[in-house]
Amino acid sequence: MAAPRAEGAGAHVVLVGLPGVGKSTVGRAAAERSGVPFVDFDDEIERREGRSVARIFAELGEPRFRAAERALTAELRGAAPAVLAPGGGWIENGDVVGLLRPPARLVYLRASTATVLRRLGAATSARPLLSGPDPAGAIERLLERRRPAYESADVTLDTEILGIEKLIGAVVQLVTVRGVGYVIG
Ligand code: S3P
Repeated sequence: MAAPRAEGAGAHVVLVGLPGVGKSTVGRAAAERSGVPFVDFDDEIERREGRSVARIFAELGEPRFRAAERALTAELRGAAPAVLAPGGGWIENGDVVGLLRPPARLVYLRASTATVLRRLGAATSARPLLSGPDPAGAIERLLERRRPAYESADVTLDTEILGIEKLIGAVVQLVTVRGVGYVIG
């Protein structure tokens, strides 16, 4: 008889957190090692719209981008288990979380705003919500507003304590073995 699967195994693992915390890097590597698909929302939306996220915001408006995020989320609802890396604002885009969880599990990649700013460096200019004159203030306000949503994730991984290999390993374990509520660290 086949061994019973851990609770939650076989469901999407969704990486959430501020821009610059490493959602795409960690997610892509973890998916590759686990042999499941990886979906980078920003990349997929750029492909569908035929322009960069910055240009979607500037030329079509943020509501159009958010609608594309919601549509992609709804499509993934019945798809084979994957690692998903939506943009940092996905979590506050209506009821997108409810479209996937349960059975999906959310993983919050945590970092302070100072760390995020340092990691992003000049890349803030490619993020429409951070490209104004005060990226530090903008990121602080985003975190203040989104923190409760991020902290409602099933698992939190502190990217200031865990190095990249540990982060990837933790996500691989969530994809392949462990169920909801497992505390890593
Ligand atoms: C956004 C984050 C970006 C991208 C868009 C909006 C946000 O993704 O989706 O610029 O609202 O925080 P990353 O978190 O991958 O930078």
